Amino acid sequence: MGQEIDLLLNYPKIKRNIKERGATKTEEDRRIASRFGKEFFDGDRRHGYGGYYYNPRFWQPVIPTFQKYFGLTSSNSVLDVGCAKGFMLHDMAELIPGITVKGVDISEYAIKHAIEDMKPHVQAGNADRLPFVDNSFDVVISINTIHNLEQKECLQALKEIERVMKGKSFITVDAYRTDEEKELMLAWNLTARTFMHVNEWKMFFAEAGYTGDYYWFIP
Ligand SMILES: C[S@@+](CC[C@H](N)C(=O)[O-])C[C@H]1O[C@@H](n2cnc3c(N)ncnc32)[C@H](O)[C@@H]1O
Repeated sequence: MGQEIDLLLNYPKIKRNIKERGATKTEEDRRIASRFGKEFFDGDRRHGYGGYYYNPRFWQPVIPTFQKYFGLTSSNSVLDVGCAKGFMLHDMAELIPGITVKGVDISEYAIKHAIEDMKPHVQAGNADRLPFVDNSFDVVISINTIHNLEQKECLQALKEIERVMKGKSFITVDAYRTDEEKELMLAWNLTARTFMHVNEWKMFFAEAGYTGDYYWFIP
């Protein structure tokens, strides 16, 4: 079993009025967001990011944490599951020149609009069927992605990450520790289909045979 560790501690904190956002969400908003198309990335704020643009201030402070923790060098390979437009991979390739980076995302829209230098390295695909042979990558990273799958597929996605990694991985998922956090999560959530108490997630990881590291997105 891997360890619970916050490798995103240097990711900039975003202030949100969570309760207000939840209150204004409709089932229709959630349905539109879950298509992970233009509306989710570059549409109205009600349906997702409200404009998903590259800004070095997000991932650049995080990459040195990944680099140090996983001992990443130019000879390593990293897969990002749910890479969206490839922004994290772009910053990783910039900070660790020569490293092999690949990304997979369910969104044809995000892949088509990926940051230019990552276009050759990202492809459309489902986390529950990763298009790579066993043990392809030194490290697999998946940030806020696999909770978007239904429980059965989410379990399969964990197995897939385990299958394609050589031993190191890090994922973050929507989770809660208290009833209050659960309520906030229910209000905040737009696309997640599988979110649970942190202890339930740990049992779920064990059930999948997932041995990588993990942390939580808690509103
Ligand atoms: C909240 S975004 C996170 C994007 C990126 N990892 C980040 O942290 O900025 C969730 C991402 O998961 C992708 N996604 C959703 N379901 C997926 C699936 N079944 N397989 C692969 N990617 C998926 C979405 O298209 C979206 O890019």
